[in-house]
Amino acid sequence: MTLKLAVVGGDGTGPEVVDQALRVLEAAAKSESFQYATQHFDFGGQRFLDTGRVLDDSELDTLKQFDAILLGAVGHPGVKPGILERGLLLKMRFDLDQFINLRPVKLYPGVETPLRDKTPADIDFVVVRENTEDLYCGNGGIARKGTPQEVSTQEMIATRFGVERCLRYAFNLAASRPRKLLTLVHKTNVLTYCGDTWYRAFNEIGEADFPGVKREYHHVDACCMYMATSPQRYDTIVVPNMFGDIITDLGAAIAGGMGIAASGNLNPNFTPGSKNSTGGPSMFEPVHGSSPDIAGQNKANPLAAIDSLALLLTETGRARGHDAWLKAGQRVTAAVQNVTPKFAGKKLDRSGFSTSEIGQMVLDAL
Ligand code: IPM
Ligand code: MN
Repeated sequence: MTLKLAVVGGDGTGPEVVDQALRVLEAAAKSESFQYATQHFDFGGQRFLDTGRVLDDSELDTLKQFDAILLGAVGHPGVKPGILERGLLLKMRFDLDQFINLRPVKLYPGVETPLRDKTPADIDFVVVRENTEDLYCGNGGIARKGTPQEVSTQEMIATRFGVERCLRYAFNLAASRPRKLLTLVHKTNVLTYCGDTWYRAFNEIGEADFPGVKREYHHVDACCMYMATSPQRYDTIVVPNMFGDIITDLGAAIAGGMGIAASGNLNPNFTPGSKNSTGGPSMFEPVHGSSPDIAGQNKANPLAAIDSLALLLTETGRARGHDAWLKAGQRVTAAVQNVTPKFAGKKLDRSGFSTSEIGQMVLDAL
């Protein structure tokens, strides 16, 4: 079986960091002897400025023929905020039904954390962020704009269906980890409708189907405090979209910084070519953005992109039952862990090494 990969370098430093991930893919595929094929797509700010097109429905359909998508970054200083985010990134997440945003928060050995006295044993959890609902739906509007009577609304959406499939994924993940602990993070004391849907579903599903998984509940503000003071409280966190966005930046910060944080937008129900599948393939991307200030200078740290490739190989290998991809993913993770201590805690462009030098170090570690 050939791993079919759609590659979207995107804007700014995106293409540079993705190039290094592809070098690592070539080496990993060779050592685990599997075939892969890549196709590049030029979606992003530059194409939008040149053509006015962000992402067409026919292009989305094309993406559905791939096993996975590797994305660098989107965001362009010449494009108004919201256009690329909604039209490209969120459109892919929503229309390909990537309903899980998986964001590991793991302090690798030798990596410095800003939290005094915390070690890799204390910072090792994974955040399951719901990825298709909540404040991200874009329901709402603005009326009497520019007048003193201006009014705007943006609604928080929680559907039982969306909440339940996310919770089930999180329970299964928690059950597969040694601590068997799942923490729901919300704000049920204020968000008494959406919070209620999440809280009841959490307890009903847990009680009925996952009696072996211990359940905890934290308000999101308390969660921020605990992540900074006692991150060892967490093993698996499940959280709605917007709170998940916020706490995973904090998570990246305590585990060594944005330069090394990886993520996967997963559609666990998708198999290419299967008539029973809904949506499309999963997409893997660094948590960081396009850093236009240092674009094209071979300065950005590619470790987050390379670690996202590792996650891609591992998750896609597991989902498709393809051991060679899975093994390659684990080897790339190990190589990244090996190299990371030299670069963690540094700004994306302050490592003292070039993008391609860091890529080469991962290749050497492989
Ligand atoms: C992220 C980003 C995106 C989000 C933006 C770019 C739309 O911050 O992936 O965390 O809010 O989800
Ligand atoms: Mn974010």
